[in-house]
Amino acid sequence: MTLTPQQIASYERDGYFVQENALSQAAAENLLACTMAFQTQMRPGHVLEKDGKTHRAFHGCHLYDDTYSELIRSPQFLVPAQQLLRDDVYIHQLKVNVKQAFSGEMWPWHQDYIYWRNEDNIPSVNIASVMIFLDDIDEFNGPLFFIPGSHTIGCVDTPIASDAPKGWEGNVSASLTYQIDAPLVTQLVSKGGLFSATGKKGTAVWFHGNLVHASPPNISPYNRRIAILTYNAVSNIPTTQPAKLRPEFLNGRDYRPLVALKTEKRALTA
Ligand code: SIN
Ligand code: MN
Repeated sequence: MTLTPQQIASYERDGYFVQENALSQAAAENLLACTMAFQTQMRPGHVLEKDGKTHRAFHGCHLYDDTYSELIRSPQFLVPAQQLLRDDVYIHQLKVNVKQAFSGEMWPWHQDYIYWRNEDNIPSVNIASVMIFLDDIDEFNGPLFFIPGSHTIGCVDTPIASDAPKGWEGNVSASLTYQIDAPLVTQLVSKGGLFSATGKKGTAVWFHGNLVHASPPNISPYNRRIAILTYNAVSNIPTTQPAKLRPEFLNGRDYRPLVALKTEKRALTA
């Protein structure tokens, strides 16, 4: 679970790195089964696609579900987060994006940190995400696309997209609030190329808050479900709160440093 100097160097140079088998196939299947049970629950952090009926995302699962509460404390993810951020950490945000077969919609080009900076007053980009694959992901079922090295441009001040839903709903919609425009994407891709985040269920991909990324719609017959855990350094909590706080399922307020679980429990055992 401890990162190698090479993995840390990739994170700093490319803005991401991949860990195969971060969870076993059985553990990923366990986590998926627990996640799909959320479909029958009505919770404020559960978001639908534009069709108004297909689930798009479940936010803040660690706030109500023991398996996710254990997952964020698992040394498999907590220790790398502490290493990358060089500090104790807590969860700023956790979501499961369940881009479903035939109906999962796109995520436009964007950086994540602008949401945490503009909406939640997170002072610096010393905040990192890990995406855990709950399905096998290939070129067909809507993988994330990264532009390697794009995090080095810093946080780009983008205007609010005119077609984005108002309020926090715009931050999780297929019409996102803050998007990177086509000329900048073209320029960044001409320098860094594109990387498509594919692999077996149980794969983990760590990525930087300023990495430019997107994903296409899922028109395939295969679901593409991922959990994304965003850890923030405890030295990087907001010093003032925004006038309008986003809900806790998007803007974590439990700043207590996470302590690693001694034994890996339900989420990580078959
Ligand atoms: C994200 O950018 O936060 C998620 C994109 C995706 O689920 O494809
Ligand atoms: Mn994102």
